[in-house]
Amino acid sequence: MLYELCIDEKAMTNIAVFASGTGSNAVNLVKAFNSGNRIHVALCLTDKENAPVIEKMKDLGVETLFFPRSVWKEQPQVILDTLRSHDIKIIALAGFLCFLSDEIVNAYEGKILNIHPSLLPAYGGKGMHGANVHKAVIEAGETKSGATVHIVTNEIDAGPIVVQKEVAVLPDDTPESLEAKVHDVEYIAFPEAVLKLVTSLTPPAVPKSVDDAWADALGVPNNVPPIPLQQPVKTEPAPVAARQEPMPDTFLVWSVITTILCCFIPGIVAIINSAKVSSKYYEGDMEGAKRASRNAEIWIIVSFVLGVITNTLYIPLSIAGLF
Ligand code: GRF
Repeated sequence: MLYELCIDEKAMTNIAVFASGTGSNAVNLVKAFNSGNRIHVALCLTDKENAPVIEKMKDLGVETLFFPRSVWKEQPQVILDTLRSHDIKIIALAGFLCFLSDEIVNAYEGKILNIHPSLLPAYGGKGMHGANVHKAVIEAGETKSGATVHIVTNEIDAGPIVVQKEVAVLPDDTPESLEAKVHDVEYIAFPEAVLKLVTSLTPPAVPKSVDDAWADALGVPNNVPPIPLQQPVKTEPAPVAARQEPMPDTFLVWSVITTILCCFIPGIVAIINSAKVSSKYYEGDMEGAKRASRNAEIWIIVSFVLGVITNTLYIPLSIAGLF
């Protein structure tokens, strides 16, 4: 790698256009981006000393340099140094007919785009450029053609496709009319592809969460819903037994009645046991609740019996005048 090619999301991304011909695509890229603040065509390089693109780019204020083919072929480091001095992050080949050395392709691996006037992989490869392509398409009787922007690799016209646009080929089309139609879609496809590449190389503005970073590092999708943290379970006085069996009878009403009408002291004991039934039940102490219920019952009977005895004895004794 020549130098750090990371793209800063806040900075302007400089691109270089390499062109050998009329340069209508190079001009189109300048017009598409150079009045904005994100992407800037900062440099144009050519291998043709008198290529029309030179004047056009100069008129647009883009620095344009000519390097003879010998430099492109034998001194790629000169080209790479020029690119580095202009802080070029991406290269766009817009009708560049010169051999691009492996050194340049490797230094900008994945960051060089080429525009080709056919629907690749059809009508690509050696000798397939300009009018040759349109002539071959028409001769083959194709009903559609188009433009393809792809990533440049060491193999001609074979890198991954970034954007592709179609046009219809009509029976009366000539290579010239087809070229004009293809040019029209190229002016849409090329800026679109540049933008796509810059966006794909730009780190997200918002820093990744730890989860996202881990998901990336592990190569797993991070769209699995998060596992909720375990919430502490609110513990009620757990009436475990009470949920399984109904609460035993408290006999509270009878405890109160016998306390008032029969015998006071055993009645109070009955009331205390009646109250214990529910408290034991809600503590989950089913055995205690049953015991309290039984005790309440016994003390009601005791209160009742003592009440009856007392009253039974009280009436005759009071009649007899002993009370
Ligand atoms: C375009 O058709 C492009 O697809 C091909 O060369 C032609 C360049 O045209 N690679 P221009 O010089 O941009 O007008």
